[in-house]
Amino acid sequence: MCGIVGGIAERSITNILIEGLKRLEYRGYDSAGLALINAGQVLRERRVGKVINLAEAVETSHISGSLGIAHTRWATHGKPTEENAHPHISGNVAVVHNGIIENYQELKDDLEALGYVFTSQTDTEVVAHLVNDALKSTPSLLEAVRQVVPQLKGAYALGIVHTDHPNELITVREGSPLVIGVGIGENFISSDQLALLPITNRFMYLEEGDIARLTRTSIEVFANGNRVERPVKELDATVSNASKGEYKHYMLKEIYEQPEAIQQTISQALNGNALRPDFLKNAEVDFSKIQQIQIIACGTSYHAGMIAKYWFEQLIDLPCQVEIASEFRYRSPVIVGNTLYVCISQSGETADTLAALRDTQKRAVAKGLDVVTLTICNVATSSMVRETNYSLLTLAGPEIGVASTKAFTTQLAALMLLVLKIGQVKNSISTEQVEQITSELWHLPKVILNTLQHNDSILRLAELFTEKQHCLFLGRGTNFPIALEGALKLKEISYIHAEGYAAGELKHGPLALVDNEMPVVILAPQDDMLDKLKSNMEEVQARGGELFVFADVNSGIKGKDRQHVVHVPNVSAVLSPIVYSVPVQLLSYHVAVLRGTDVDQPRNLAKSVTVE
Ligand code: G6P
Repeated sequence: MCGIVGGIAERSITNILIEGLKRLEYRGYDSAGLALINAGQVLRERRVGKVINLAEAVETSHISGSLGIAHTRWATHGKPTEENAHPHISGNVAVVHNGIIENYQELKDDLEALGYVFTSQTDTEVVAHLVNDALKSTPSLLEAVRQVVPQLKGAYALGIVHTDHPNELITVREGSPLVIGVGIGENFISSDQLALLPITNRFMYLEEGDIARLTRTSIEVFANGNRVERPVKELDATVSNASKGEYKHYMLKEIYEQPEAIQQTISQALNGNALRPDFLKNAEVDFSKIQQIQIIACGTSYHAGMIAKYWFEQLIDLPCQVEIASEFRYRSPVIVGNTLYVCISQSGETADTLAALRDTQKRAVAKGLDVVTLTICNVATSSMVRETNYSLLTLAGPEIGVASTKAFTTQLAALMLLVLKIGQVKNSISTEQVEQITSELWHLPKVILNTLQHNDSILRLAELFTEKQHCLFLGRGTNFPIALEGALKLKEISYIHAEGYAAGELKHGPLALVDNEMPVVILAPQDDMLDKLKSNMEEVQARGGELFVFADVNSGIKGKDRQHVVHVPNVSAVLSPIVYSVPVQLLSYHVAVLRGTDVDQPRNLAKSVTVE
């Protein structure tokens, strides 16, 4: 999704902007551009495609400046062309924008009536013209932006510069993430702090509705017209933990980081085989009132929620519902008191999940209901973490590959910790059971390490997929969502059409698709459903389907003609979805590499979906 980087310094910031954009590439985009203010001029370059194209253009044109804004665009309004790439200019104003201006058409009509000529199909260009127009009635760039903001409907983050204002950069946050990187004698903005990590680890997080004016040495923030203070936080994230290291792709690196990421995530909550007393501090009172759980999430995070539903209901007898945020937010769901609303999101900024959360909070207040909110998230400083009562962090470190891997398995680990915590508070799980599951959680990194040893066998299976057009994934119980997740992984990075099904549904439709050409991936852990799953495998084989089975080493499932088996180390049924995520991730990864796709940045997709 779109990315913003901007800055004001003594030194030339051209390379900082380009490097910043490169660090945002993982978010997904289709064109890139930058504008620098230098000697009373706006110097702009924009290119379709990768940031490297922009970098080459900038090198050729030798443009430089110590005040500027840059952008990677993920097309929403208008095709990915150079004309539509940001920054957009009106007179002496240049603007970059993330998000969507919903009323842009009406604003555009008004501006055209005033004689403004549009050179792009974007919604963003209206902002440039509006600021330009507002400057007719005020000499202050800040004041002009303040006049424009109330006219804009939608979600947006903006970076704005002007040739006559070479000592200031104006930024706005309204529904789209924006962070200020605080330097010494220089200041920066970005939609993602990762872009700025090479130059600072001190960040100021704007609140929704904030407008800020940055100079080299000062940052003034305004909310509702008043000057406000926003704290500066120091991050301990280092530049190196966001690099590819020895791995060919971020995705592969992140798959291999899972044992450590899980270890980190559980360490924050466990003391030996007991939950630490300070884990989710002060939540006891709220959790004891909870009578049901409502999970809201999108994409891979939604699949994590689906697994948690099995856990909440089976392990602690607590009703749990899970819903895709984009549906939940628009269907006027009944908000019920004594409910814990759980947002699951690796980024903490997904537009639909955030909107569903805010809507729930608003409606609960209106109805006078007592609801509790909690976020499971990989970004400590994200909007969701800040806006929910409680947060449980997945300590996976930055995840760059668009296809989520370590963020997903750490979400599962965190969800299990939450189940145990609520179960303990509500006395609905025994100490022995808690100890049993926590000891298995501690063992999990080792089981995953052993599963990763099967990488070469999985690569050999992947070689059989390169020419395939379609694929089915089947699982039962908590591995049904892993079948969905496996299908999602395969389609998003290899572009093979894939579908996940609960194996029990096979006869109700998908079996009609099974023939010699249809690979069927089976998830077969050692659980109560194993015999039923074996019958489903027979049904596929009887129709000529080719089976690719990830099976427990003790399952008794063996390789044979048109049945390829990779044996997964034995793991308890309850934690098996965490372990079975790994082979499906590796399978998708290898198929994608063999098919030559852009594994870390698959076409048309974005890491952090900050528009709906
Ligand atoms: C995008 C990402 C997915 C992610 C989904 C939800 O589609 O590519 O990896 O699962 O958004 O994002 P969230 O940050 O809320 O988990």
